[in-house]
Amino acid sequence: MTYKDKQFRLSGLNGISDETLEMHLKLYQGYVKETNRLTEKISEFLKDGNVDQEEMPAYSELKRRLGFEYNGMVLHEYYFDNLKKHGGGDPDRDASFRRATDSSFGSYNIWKADFMSVGNMRGVGWAICYQDPASGQLSNHWVTLHETGNVAGFNPILVMDVWEHAFLLDYKPTERPKYIEAFFSNIDWSVLDVRLGNLMHRKDKRSRAA
Ligand SMILES: [Fe+2]
Repeated sequence: MTYKDKQFRLSGLNGISDETLEMHLKLYQGYVKETNRLTEKISEFLKDGNVDQEEMPAYSELKRRLGFEYNGMVLHEYYFDNLKKHGGGDPDRDASFRRATDSSFGSYNIWKADFMSVGNMRGVGWAICYQDPASGQLSNHWVTLHETGNVAGFNPILVMDVWEHAFLLDYKPTERPKYIEAFFSNIDWSVLDVRLGNLMHRKDKRSRAA
């Protein structure tokens, strides 16, 4: 299985420069390349049908790094995909995402305060709003680096990169809140509804099959 980098036609965002986007997309392509390279190297260990004792240290290191690279690739795809030029504002009151924040947090504003606070946590990583497929409820989580803190089985609905590379060309390291404001002014809310809709569809299919 070889992954191909996805194409994102992103430019002219509010508060996130084209220079940042260009650099960030190159970083993303690096994750795709490294995911493919590690996957290929791991498959070489398995050619003879087993990983022997001598191979285990090198094999283990590659497997651990794969979690970092794989999540780095996938999270960046969610991130770029939930941004658009002239996005932002707040989601419509009858939008699925807005209604999901009301039912999960009591109000959209409480959800937003929680999500932004996760984004402002110290450290390098991501703020992610997930939907629990079992209950349909939304919850916001901090992910360190790319792989520590992802909730197994939960589905990412809104993904915000808060590594410094996401904003250092536009803001000082101490100005992460300004970047987060800029991120919010570029969200493609319709993508979030599509993500929620796809999950509902899958759930419907499952329940029909049961
Ligand atoms: Fe990034």
